[in-house]
Amino acid sequence: MSAPAVRFAGITRRFPGVAALTDVGFDVAAGSCHAICGENGAGKSTLGRILAGIDRPDAGTITLFGEAVRFRQPRDAMAAGVAIVHQELALWPELSVAENLGMGRMPRRGPLVDRRALRAHAEALLARVGAAIDPDRRMGALSIAEQQLVQIAMAVGADARIIIFDEPTSSLGERETERLYAVMAALRAQGTTTLYVSHRMPEIFRLCDTVTVLRDGHHVATTPTAALDEAAIVEQMIGRRLEQFYPSHAAGTAGAPVLEVEGLSAAGGRVRDISFTLRAGEVLGLAGLVGAGRSEVARALFGLDPTARGRVRVRGLEATIRSPREAMALGLGLVPEDRKGQGLVLGMANRENGSLPSLPRFASRGVVDRARESAATGAAFAAMTMAADAEAATVTLSGGNQQKVVMAKWLTAESDLLILDEPTRGVDVGAKAELHAWIDRHAAAGGAVLLITSDMPELLNLATRILVLREGRPAGELARADATQASLLRLMSGLGAA
Ligand SMILES: Nc1ncnc2c1ncn2[C@@H]1O[C@H](COP(=O)(O)OP(=O)(O)OP(=O)(O)O)[C@@H](O)[C@H]1O
Ligand SMILES: [Mg+2]
Repeated sequence: MSAPAVRFAGITRRFPGVAALTDVGFDVAAGSCHAICGENGAGKSTLGRILAGIDRPDAGTITLFGEAVRFRQPRDAMAAGVAIVHQELALWPELSVAENLGMGRMPRRGPLVDRRALRAHAEALLARVGAAIDPDRRMGALSIAEQQLVQIAMAVGADARIIIFDEPTSSLGERETERLYAVMAALRAQGTTTLYVSHRMPEIFRLCDTVTVLRDGHHVATTPTAALDEAAIVEQMIGRRLEQFYPSHAAGTAGAPVLEVEGLSAAGGRVRDISFTLRAGEVLGLAGLVGAGRSEVARALFGLDPTARGRVRVRGLEATIRSPREAMALGLGLVPEDRKGQGLVLGMANRENGSLPSLPRFASRGVVDRARESAATGAAFAAMTMAADAEAATVTLSGGNQQKVVMAKWLTAESDLLILDEPTRGVDVGAKAELHAWIDRHAAAGGAVLLITSDMPELLNLATRILVLREGRPAGELARADATQASLLRLMSGLGAA
């Protein structure tokens, strides 16, 4: 037997008030694709960060190919051949894509940076992961999916022996995801070892040969994928069987129009001619490939796009929504694609984030009734199965738990017209099932939901109707009964009808 690529032994990491990892030990075979699974907050990212030298364990050892290592900083891990694709984006937004990709290895011509070489280097890396992104664009101007692709290009370009992918596909659409799978197959053919953190079961079965499950910072099991099925992994994760992944639709018929959109254009005209009616009791799915204009529609409706034009009626009344404040006053809520940038104030306590849009309801004469605020946000967190302390700063939460705070915010606000842009990104299976049931009940109770998601099963199971966008234009509409993965993909990619 050759030495494992990674041996974790006794890894323990505590944060104030939380034991993120306790005595975690397991082996990752050389050349394998090893899944790391677990609920939100189980310790997956913490383990990845420790392996990448970003965080240091309080106790325990790491051995790479039989050699004990002790990383003091990310550079040490890089030198040992370890790279990471972060769950949360960690790039320099003010620099260009080429500069980001050239970090640490700026080609020089005399005293100057060799711009042409820098650009060529970036183009080559982007081509490797199949990303059509102009290297001269400013990082901060890219969509979340594009930024994630740049991160992947960066890790792949480091020629590491071991790569940690922490939820790499959470913001990617079908096409980019397939491309990433191809890149991973190529890495594997070269003998690269990958640790793969994901909440998406189908991809675990497709990519990974071994599955390690963590629960509350403890190692539960390391098992060959062939000996597992989805239910078994979920049971290891949450300690019980999950009976139902999708709601069996609470009865609900479409009622009066809640939102009528006519000839909407957004993003400076890149998205145009969007018209639809969303009725009470409906979950209208908005489908499309990355870049099709789905998030642009969401932002325009919520008053975040000053270039938005077109007619909008809310509950039959003509509305001009120029700011999120105006949108909220009309009963709209938005769970944005970019939770860090738009959804949360990371330094605030979870309770404060959770009650932000609802404060007027909890205040009288300018004084917030803390008891009512706590009760309402507490109920919303419980509904999202969020175990974290309401008074802890949101910045200390795991990625999935931060997403739950964003959702809880609109639960607390009781908005009856919800725009959800990738609402379950990074959310674990148990909480996802709760959230799906909640969306279904919300619609059944007369609420209306505009649902944007790249998660096909989620879209097909929750949407009562699906509007497909392609390159900023409407491409067609499908009723739930007619929507299949194949019919949707055809419309999304413009391949025409079957
Ligand atoms: N810097 C920090 N300060 C305080 N607590 C932290 C910090 N980083 C992580 N934690 C806590 O450690 C625990 C494990 O977090 P981690 O991010 O590893 O979870 P995860 O398994 O990656 O979850 P997710 O699926 O949501 O990404 C959580 O309770 C989290 O709140
Ligand atoms: Mg994580």
